[in-house]
Amino acid sequence: ALVDKGNHRHFMLKEIYEQPTVVGQTLSSYIDPLNLRIVLQDLCFDPKTISRVTLIACGTSYYAAMVAKYWIEHYAHIPVDVDIASEFRYRAPVLSQGGLAVFISQSGETADTLAALRHCKQAGQTVAAIVNVPESTMAREADMVFPIHAGPEIGVASTKAFTCQLSVLAALAIGFGVLRKTIDRSLEATLVQALSEVPSRMAEVLHHDEKLRDIAADLANARDVLYLGRGTDYPIALEGALKLKEISYIHAEGYAAGELKHGPIALIDQAVPIVVIAPMGPLFEKTVSNMEEAIARGGKVILMSCKDGLKNHSDMAMASIELPQVHPMATPLLYALPVQLLAYHTAVHKGTDVDQPRNLAKSVTVE
Ligand code: G6P
Repeated sequence: ALVDKGNHRHFMLKEIYEQPTVVGQTLSSYIDPLNLRIVLQDLCFDPKTISRVTLIACGTSYYAAMVAKYWIEHYAHIPVDVDIASEFRYRAPVLSQGGLAVFISQSGETADTLAALRHCKQAGQTVAAIVNVPESTMAREADMVFPIHAGPEIGVASTKAFTCQLSVLAALAIGFGVLRKTIDRSLEATLVQALSEVPSRMAEVLHHDEKLRDIAADLANARDVLYLGRGTDYPIALEGALKLKEISYIHAEGYAAGELKHGPIALIDQAVPIVVIAPMGPLFEKTVSNMEEAIARGGKVILMSCKDGLKNHSDMAMASIELPQVHPMATPLLYALPVQLLAYHTAVHKGTDVDQPRNLAKSVTVE
């Protein structure tokens, strides 16, 4: 099918703006919003007896896997390994008997991820694929497919596929927890409620587009940018940095905020903007104290948090973005949007080819 940009200047922007809709569609096939329950149909494995989950992917899909590790361990109490496909396939991974290997890929064709899938299948793992393209090779070869329903993604830099992957992974983590009885009925309802509110919260986040565009005008002058986050928002820091380097060609690094003092703090001066992803939640104070360490060394912070988080801290930041306050499980889904938009506007400001960045391909079918 032919896809056009509609009123948007780039496919990437169109796809960023589609997220409230497509995430809503994805969620509706994994949750029952009336009864606040997770719906997982016809699993070809029993989550109660899974010994270990191995999540394997490349690029942005790999960061979705990193978020899912926190969720599956926290809510379903299953040990989780996360691996980059090109690393996994060329070492000697020790797989558990009764393990589930999950391959996450927008295209379902990435060569390294596919090779890792074949290896796991041969090694007797139960193999599941989380893909956007239902007729893809991975979908055909996996024992079980979880579609993400994002619709065609044209921009080379992945956006809506990422948040749709996260939506499916969140539903799986909760669903596994319910079946394993590590989540009771009331927690399931709380989490499903939090997920079902994500599309409308995302729509609110998109209202900050203009403010992000202003911040991006500054960011466009930077040579290096740091992104910091903790917990499930640490992979969002990595994703923010990846998006920025992919499309604006500015060097950027994502770091676990607690690692700042083990190296990257040496880079900080007035010329290195630091994007701090700090939603309200159990790790908020810890992230803030890392931010203070950076500011004490002259760092210029762009702080992303909610109203309560910004109350006492927005003054010390160079700029801040106020996001809706949501359940901690929903924060990576929500905070993905401002980091996408920040990268997008920075790239537009620099005049790069946003939808077709140099040297990158939408689907990498070579090793
Ligand atoms: C390429 C794309 C990325 C994508 C990665 C993995 O590098 O440019 O946007 O995240 O491949 O692709 P996949 O289709 O396996 O998710």
